[in-house]
Amino acid sequence: MLQDEVAGYLAEIEAAPLQTPDALEAFRLRFLSRNGLVQGLFGRLKEVEPAQRKEMGQILNNLKNRAEETFATAKAAAEAAAEASTGPLLDLTLPPPPHALGSRHILNLVRDQMLAVFRQIGFAVADGPEIEDDWHNFTALNFPPDHPAREMQDTFFVERGGPGGDVVLRTHTSPVQIRVMQERQPPIRSLMPGRVYRNEAISARAHCLFHQIEGLYIDKDVSFVDLKETLYYFVRTFFSPETAIRFRPSFFPFTEPSAEIDISCQICHGDGCNICKHTGWVEIGGSGMVHPNVLRNSGIDPDVYTGFAFGMGVERSAMLKYQIRDLRLYTENDVRFLRQFAVV
Ligand code: DAH
Repeated sequence: MLQDEVAGYLAEIEAAPLQTPDALEAFRLRFLSRNGLVQGLFGRLKEVEPAQRKEMGQILNNLKNRAEETFATAKAAAEAAAEASTGPLLDLTLPPPPHALGSRHILNLVRDQMLAVFRQIGFAVADGPEIEDDWHNFTALNFPPDHPAREMQDTFFVERGGPGGDVVLRTHTSPVQIRVMQERQPPIRSLMPGRVYRNEAISARAHCLFHQIEGLYIDKDVSFVDLKETLYYFVRTFFSPETAIRFRPSFFPFTEPSAEIDISCQICHGDGCNICKHTGWVEIGGSGMVHPNVLRNSGIDPDVYTGFAFGMGVERSAMLKYQIRDLRLYTENDVRFLRQFAVV
């Protein structure tokens, strides 16, 4: 009887294991395809007694619905399981997203640019400690005992009045001059880059830590002319050939004579702006002929040797070269600022 056959198929549908794609496809072909069972049964309706055809039709419709529902549910479950195990389908032919590279910090870049200029004329790079004793930071550099730069407001003290005197965070790179001269005799052509510390309130124009590059040249018959020529060369190479330079008489305990180094303003080119305070000139560092006391303190005979020294700010040089108006940008780590100097 057709009715018994249908009951058997219904039981088969309920029990069908439909976990794999192959099983699903076999089920579809057996029950739901054009030549499948369900269509075949509908074809046999004409064999049924006319009086029972309507009821039989409903039975077959029910069978068809059960088969379709079972198939749809099992197919959806199989797809969900596949997605959960492999994730959404990947297009492996797409090019990979670009890898975001970091960039070197602008202060490192500018420091290396500055060092490179001096390296071309025979300067070598030397290093010294950031925690310094009073003797190297002040005394050997000919600072009198009561010099104001030793006072609390400028200097961070690590230790006061220890067995070897005060210990400080170096306030400039000049103590490395002493260390270099203690280690070897002239000729000396050294650059000493590094971080320095001063007890200052942080603002757009001042910071409690910044970077300097110290230069030292000691040999026989070194004169102020050598100092000027060296710095002319630096300024024209590092900034631009048109940059003007002037030396302004000044005072440092460790040099005599001493001069501040000014260059023509890189922002307004002499027209006057607030960076150069409308003078057309900006200071980039200090310089001078090494004081005989400093040579003597470091074990070098001032009757045989003379030399010049200079110290320049890295932040200041970068500011002028790249028109940066606030010192705090260097340490805030805002990638929008840092990325602009991305030379990889
Ligand atoms: N040490 C000085 C400072 O921090 C800068 C300086 C001036 C360095 C003159 C020198 C120099 O070597 O000769 O302000």
